[in-house]
Amino acid sequence: MAKPEPQPTELKKPVNRREFLTFAWLVSLGFLSVNVAGMTYLFSMPRFKEGEFGGVVTVGKVSEVPGVDAGPGNFPKVKFWLSNTEDGAFALYKVCTHLGCLFNWKDQEFKFVCPCHGSQFQKNGDYIQGPAPRSLDRFVMQAVDPATGDVLAQTPDDGGPMPLPDNPEAIIQVNTGSRITGKAHG
Ligand code: FES
Repeated sequence: MAKPEPQPTELKKPVNRREFLTFAWLVSLGFLSVNVAGMTYLFSMPRFKEGEFGGVVTVGKVSEVPGVDAGPGNFPKVKFWLSNTEDGAFALYKVCTHLGCLFNWKDQEFKFVCPCHGSQFQKNGDYIQGPAPRSLDRFVMQAVDPATGDVLAQTPDDGGPMPLPDNPEAIIQVNTGSRITGKAHG
């Protein structure tokens, strides 16, 4: 009896260069789409939570702001001093404008002094002396009516004082994501 002829197995067609490049391009496009979607999602999320450094911080009511004759309020976790002056209030960034040390409030001298190279600043953040090239940086703050949500006062664009409104219940908020550079001196 004759042996059956072996059937030729069907050979797979090799992938040519063009097909391979098309496939690679489609895969890359897929990865790119996933990345773009992910980045869009991340950027649509707020970068900082409310109450954290980098976000908006509620510091209390107008009635709780330190008096003009008192030292500034210290808010170490959110990196600012809350200074009240005859002209209004400031939220001063705690980092020295010279080389970035954390300066301190000196009650006896009634001014800020940096321990690193001795720069000094007034209670409103203005430069007094030392190697710092400019006055202290400040954050934008606002006072909000808790009943209506109306903004009653706000730090001006030049970083000047925010006059405290008459309403002692108004809420003071500091935007630690919005920093105004202190004025250069000399
Ligand atoms: S870092 Fe403050 S004076 Fe140099």
